[in-house]
Amino acid sequence: PGLATYDPGFLNTASTRSAVTFIDGEKGILEYRGYPIEQLAEDSTFLEVAYLLIHGELPTQEQYEQWVHEITYHTFVHENVKDFMHGFRYDAHPMGMLMASVGALSTFYPESRNISDQDNRHIQIVRMIAKMPTLGAWSFRHAQGKPYVYPDNDLSYTENFLSMLFKMSEVKYDPDPRLAKALDVLFILHADHEQNASTNAVRSVGSTQVDPYSSVAAGVGALFGPLHGGANEAVLRMLRRIGSVDKIPEFIEGVKNGDERLMGFGHRVYKNYDPRAKIIKQQAMNVFEVTGTNPLLDIALELEKIALEDEYFVKRKLYPNVDFYSGLIYEALQFPPEMFTVLFAIGRTPGWLAQWQELVTDKEQKIARPKQIYTGDRTLEFVHREKRW
Ligand code: CMC
Repeated sequence: PGLATYDPGFLNTASTRSAVTFIDGEKGILEYRGYPIEQLAEDSTFLEVAYLLIHGELPTQEQYEQWVHEITYHTFVHENVKDFMHGFRYDAHPMGMLMASVGALSTFYPESRNISDQDNRHIQIVRMIAKMPTLGAWSFRHAQGKPYVYPDNDLSYTENFLSMLFKMSEVKYDPDPRLAKALDVLFILHADHEQNASTNAVRSVGSTQVDPYSSVAAGVGALFGPLHGGANEAVLRMLRRIGSVDKIPEFIEGVKNGDERLMGFGHRVYKNYDPRAKIIKQQAMNVFEVTGTNPLLDIALELEKIALEDEYFVKRKLYPNVDFYSGLIYEALQFPPEMFTVLFAIGRTPGWLAQWQELVTDKEQKIARPKQIYTGDRTLEFVHREKRW
């Protein structure tokens, strides 16, 4: 009591114990519940990873089928949520719509405030994982002035999402399985990343014991910020500006002179190749096989090659991060830039919920209430405005 450590952004303060995600930034290791991200991306599915994050262990076949069934069953949202979304301006940003509509779900499920009941927590977690793609897809359709597409529960999680985004007629949407798989892998890669800004927001709001929809809405808000969810869009803008492979040396010189940063490079935690970036690069190749290549890919590949050999980047341990190739994939999948962060939010939802559940079941946790170092005036004498003016 009485003692405070000044630690802006909590760079040196652990706010929690957690058994969800392990990162070793020096070695470039990322594990969910102890399983390396490379193995999960290769052999698992997003819903299996979601189960793992939430339950702490891999499902049996029966548990997996039940989990997928429950999530598929809950993909529809109340019709009034649709009306609510219709009320947004024609040019509303999809992230603003997503944040508001997730928060609005708390009013449709008031029992979600009973967070001490495990069955109740379970059903809210299932609902949220199930409904995020529906809300995300509808926010996209809204921005395009197109009618909302209801979930197709014959399709897989990611196929259904693609259907709600891109279906243009009464005919059943038939997504390319390779594109659905790429999106599934991207969701896996984004599913958790320990105490990042949005997870910290979810935990901070959740520590007040509010319902999980309000907590996750706070996470979506944090993710909306350009320092958190917006770098992949900046990578695309940078590649476009460079324009051609022969302009790369000139661009790199500018970066080294401090004119600008090489977007999609460097990371606060990873001082090695971001393990997610390797997997994304491979997925980008798979996607371009289907969609045809993008000239920006050649620029990205050459940029990466040059930077990895350049002393400036080597000395500072700057490697490609998760955002270096993801924007290229999203663009190839026909997503406009403002949807990139919505995709991130859908992928991150199981992580937010796993961390929220860990928080509310942890007896050691307290309401998040950091200390401050007060720098203002003290004990001034108030003078009534009639005497001041
Ligand atoms: N291009 C050029 N120089 C860089 C870059 C870059 N992308 N990143 C860091 N540096 C330099 C920086 O100028 C500094 O050099 P010096 O020591 O000479 O002053 C040194 O490297 C250390 O930089 P820092 O800003 O102290 O490092 P940080 O850990 O605070 O920043 C970062 C991490 C991600 C903000 C930064 O690397 C960056 O701005 N990268 C570009 C933006 C980007 O790709 N962001 C996405 C991050 S991954 C998203 C996620 O995981 O959610």
